[in-house]
Amino acid sequence: MSEQHAAESIAFSEEELQQIEAIKARYPHPKAALMPVLWMAQKKFGWISTDVMKYVAELLNLPYAHVQGVVRFYTMYFKKPMGKYHIQVCTNVSCMLRGAYDLWDYLRKKYNIDHLERTPDGLVSLEEVECMGACGGAPMIAINEDYYENLDLEKLEKILQDVVHKEG
Ligand code: FES
Repeated sequence: MSEQHAAESIAFSEEELQQIEAIKARYPHPKAALMPVLWMAQKKFGWISTDVMKYVAELLNLPYAHVQGVVRFYTMYFKKPMGKYHIQVCTNVSCMLRGAYDLWDYLRKKYNIDHLERTPDGLVSLEEVECMGACGGAPMIAINEDYYENLDLEKLEKILQDVVHKEG
């Protein structure tokens, strides 16, 4: 087992396994269930390690190489551990025109990390992303699954204090 997962065994709960069965039942071939199952795995284990890929391959009875290919292809699957708070900054056109790079540069400087890096304490990771479908609220970011829109630097800092640094 990889050291990153040493503290936890890589296994879905009974309930999660039932969810996976339900996902599989929706499709004629288990290959189609791979992406949602990988997404569940990322949520649970934090990122998609080799061990996670092996586990998912076994679970869905798919060749490991196929699982690896899908994980490598899609940027949404993390290939290394990300922060407890994963901050995505959209720098696509609408957001860019309304100051997304000010937000991006601010975050990079504040945490002293770059795209797909995380702080040494594991608290924060950053990712520059394409349009997240919230252009009407440009510029916007997401912290884990929550969107924050119509931002400027002041609002961004307030959100960071309220969400990321709320415990101190
Ligand atoms: S351009 Fe940023 S959400 Fe669409």
